[in-house]
Amino acid sequence: MRPTIINFGSCNIDHVYTVEAFVSPGETLSSRTYQTFPGGKGLNQSVAIVQAGGACSHVGRIGQDGEWLKNMLRSLGINTDFLTVSTEPTGHAIIQINQEGENAIITHGGANHTITQSEIDFALEGTKETDFVLIQNEIKNVSYIIERAKTKGLQVAFNAAPINKAVEDCPLEALDLLFLNEIEAEQLSGTTGTAEMIRALSKRFPETKLIITLGDEGSLYHFKGETLKQIAIDVGQIIDTTGAGDAFVGNFLAYFVETGRPREALTIAAKASAKCISRRGATNLLKNV
Ligand code: RIB
Repeated sequence: MRPTIINFGSCNIDHVYTVEAFVSPGETLSSRTYQTFPGGKGLNQSVAIVQAGGACSHVGRIGQDGEWLKNMLRSLGINTDFLTVSTEPTGHAIIQINQEGENAIITHGGANHTITQSEIDFALEGTKETDFVLIQNEIKNVSYIIERAKTKGLQVAFNAAPINKAVEDCPLEALDLLFLNEIEAEQLSGTTGTAEMIRALSKRFPETKLIITLGDEGSLYHFKGETLKQIAIDVGQIIDTTGAGDAFVGNFLAYFVETGRPREALTIAAKASAKCISRRGATNLLKNV
C-alpha cells in the first residue's frame, strides 16, 4: 500500500513586504508591495509533498482565522482530518524580502503551539507501518512525536528548522532522516566546513540519514560512509528565497519515501528549490497565480 507522509507541521499566514533594504533599528520603512500568502514550514512542506506526487496527511492546529489554509490544503488532496481549530489565532509570519530576494522573518507560533499529546496519539493511531512521519521545529511536543512514532515502528524525518536550544533536547539519535541547512548543521555539529560537519554529525547520529542544504553550494546526502552531492541549480534572477528549504524537504521526502533512492531525490529537490526562489511566496503552487 502507498505510504503516507504524516506531517506534524505548522500553518502560518505569511505577511510579505518587499523592501529596498531590511528595516534597521529605530527606522520606519514603507514597503513597495504587501501580499498575504499561506505559509509555515509545515504547510509549505505538505504542499511540496503532494506537488511531488506524494500522499500527505497534515497534523496540526490553526485558529478560526485559518480555515482558508485548511480548505487550500484539502483542495490539493492533503488529508486535513487531524488539522484542528484552536482558540488561539493561526500562527503568522512577518516577512521582509529585499531587492536581492533574501528574507528576514519573524514568526508568531499562535495555534501551532497548542497541539496536545492526545491529538498526537490520535493522529498516529491509524497509521500503517510503511507510513513516514515528518516534523519541523515550529510546533510543540517534537520529542513526544519522535518517541511515539518510533514506538509504533514508523520512520521519522525531522527538519530542525528553525533551530533553537530545544532541538538539542530532542531524541535526535532515533531519527531516520535529519534535514539541516548549513547554519543548523554548524550549530548541531559544533563545527564548520562540510567535511567536518559530516564527520561530527555522522558520529553522533550513525543510524540517521543526513541531508544538508548549502545554499548556492548545493546540497548533500550522507549515510554510513556514503556521501552524495548535488549542485545548486542556477535560476538567473532570485526573486524570493522564502520556502526554498521547504520545497527541498517536501520534494526529497516524497520521492525518497516512494523509491528509497537518495541520488534522484536530491536532484528533484534541488530543482523544486530553484523553482521556488524564482517566484514570490513560500509555496510553488501559489507562486503560479
Ligand atoms: O520556511 C518559510 C516559512 O517560515 C514561511 O512560510 C514562514 O511562515 C516561516 O514559518
